[in-house]
Amino acid sequence: IQHLLSASDLDATAATLILDTATEMAAMADRDVKKLPTLRGRTVVNLFYEDSTRTRISFEAAAKRLSADVINFSAKGSSVSKGESLKDTALTLQAMGADAVVIRHPASGAPHRLATWIAGSVLNAGDGTHEHPTQALLDAYTLRSRLGEIAGRHVVIVGDVLHSRVARSNVVLLDTLGAKVTLVAPPTLVPVGAGAWPADVSFDLDRVLPDADAVMMLRVQKERMGEAYFPSAREYSRRYGLDGPRMRRLPGHAIVMHPGPMNRGMEITPEVADSARSTIVEQVANGVAVRMAVLYHLLGSVK
Ligand code: CP
Repeated sequence: IQHLLSASDLDATAATLILDTATEMAAMADRDVKKLPTLRGRTVVNLFYEDSTRTRISFEAAAKRLSADVINFSAKGSSVSKGESLKDTALTLQAMGADAVVIRHPASGAPHRLATWIAGSVLNAGDGTHEHPTQALLDAYTLRSRLGEIAGRHVVIVGDVLHSRVARSNVVLLDTLGAKVTLVAPPTLVPVGAGAWPADVSFDLDRVLPDADAVMMLRVQKERMGEAYFPSAREYSRRYGLDGPRMRRLPGHAIVMHPGPMNRGMEITPEVADSARSTIVEQVANGVAVRMAVLYHLLGSVK
């Protein structure tokens, strides 16, 4: 494939190949092989119109470990503030020799538009409430490394599904890889149309936890809700937050995931986030190997 715009761009074979490659990349890092020459002479641009810590830094680290030149572009402080369009910005980056553009944008569909304007590869690093495919890949990598098989596992995704591109990409990829997914959210935070997704929907977290192999907590995205979000923070935490007593309803082998950034005390308590079951820091570390694998497969074979 040329672009990675959606988790649905990957069938099971392609997704598994990326996860296998990421395993090799992680093994090389463990053997202290700091850099591979694979993308020497190629240029990767990180084009971020929305804030990011994990995704931006790990794409930068991944590209550098593959010896690519990396240009970091943040909309803040650029000519975007003078009204320059995404298309003109993209054409400018292409004129500077970008072989791949990693884009995060508040508008759902922006990476798809970008892919029609530039010749290089486009990687979706999160577009609005739409998709975040490399997050789903690193989550799948984490699930596989902790639980062995993904096929047949039960993953429970909890919280603000309505605004979550992480949830959308995970539902697609986990279905592709044969997992069972249950979405748990207040009725106000379940997207219209989620009934057609390959996932069950529940409003009762306590009931689904004893049957989960993994529980993935989502950040409550207050910034996408305006003033009138519902339910209240206290009510949300009481019914949908993961605290110690709730975590102890999980089977012994089950893991707790969160894509970050977390609202500690809202969707997850510090006791849970910092517990032995939590894979939150591991997910961040896995993100570098997974993004190396994605860049390798998109850029490594064509010049
Ligand atoms: N998980 C994730 O996308 O985090 P950032 O917003 O920090 O990149």
